[in-house]
Amino acid sequence: MKVIFDTDPGIDDAMALLYLSKLPEIELLGITTVVGNASIEKTTRNALYLRQRFGISAPVVQGAGETLDGVKKQEPAIVHGDDGLGNIDIPEVDRSGLDRRVASQFIIDTIKANRGEVTIIAVGRMTNLALALRAEPGIAKQVKQVIIMGGAFGYKGRSGNVTPLAEANIHGDPVAADEMFAAEWPVVVVGLDVTHDIVLDTDYLAALSRDVGANGELLAKMSEHYAQFYNNIMGINGVVGHDLLAVTYALHPEWFETRRGPIVTITEGLATGQTAQMPETRKGGDPAWSSRPVQTICTEVDGPKVLEHFRATV
Ligand code: BDR
Ligand code: CA
Repeated sequence: MKVIFDTDPGIDDAMALLYLSKLPEIELLGITTVVGNASIEKTTRNALYLRQRFGISAPVVQGAGETLDGVKKQEPAIVHGDDGLGNIDIPEVDRSGLDRRVASQFIIDTIKANRGEVTIIAVGRMTNLALALRAEPGIAKQVKQVIIMGGAFGYKGRSGNVTPLAEANIHGDPVAADEMFAAEWPVVVVGLDVTHDIVLDTDYLAALSRDVGANGELLAKMSEHYAQFYNNIMGINGVVGHDLLAVTYALHPEWFETRRGPIVTITEGLATGQTAQMPETRKGGDPAWSSRPVQTICTEVDGPKVLEHFRATV
């Protein structure tokens, strides 16, 4: 499976990248970066660092540093640390792995060079995807699928994490998210409804540190800061592995339950960043919703199976 990984590393982004790099079924074509968990300079530096640490040969490509509506959204140091990776000591990085194109152009070029074959896994704001679509709308028909981590649809009583209605990757650039959902490519949404079933608790992180070598130790160390946020703010013992679950879906969609229908993002006002889906079975209704392409959201997942697969893979 040919994959472009669009990311804002990010502690759970780092988990997802290690997972991707260890899966023999995946051919990673590029790591594109976006502002989000830290500034674009930091998320790009972090991607270069992780690429080097994990022995990845695919290039890193720097992407958007600003949202499409120009509204600056706070980068959450309280969640991922000032450096975006849990305030670890990040050494000077080797910049030879940096592709000189901008991420949206890299996405366009790579899709065109691999027509019908590319899966995009996007686990940050959707800005690079929307910029690629604006420049070349025709790429939508040439992509195999787009799997995103983002959104919250209220399943199992789960709401947003930035506001009661909005999840961070969508809230960070709601205009980009809405354009991405409206495009004629098949989107699968792995949102908070399912990612909160993937809790790496204290024992699990200790086992990663003990059994998975230097990279396991690195993930556990990064997670110390992340766990403080989850413990203090969310009342969760451990950390949520949001982004790694989008990688699991690429390989094991049968571990998920899904629902299909058009998706809309609220792009302004108090509810900005809220995502909602109209059921595919509903006939008629407001064309602003019903004329949109049918997309897929995940509503259930086998959490223990995913955690076991992640541990065994990395
Ligand atoms: C998402 O926001 C970021 O903090 C995480 O990396 C994840 O992609 C969860 O809402
Ligand atoms: Ca992320």
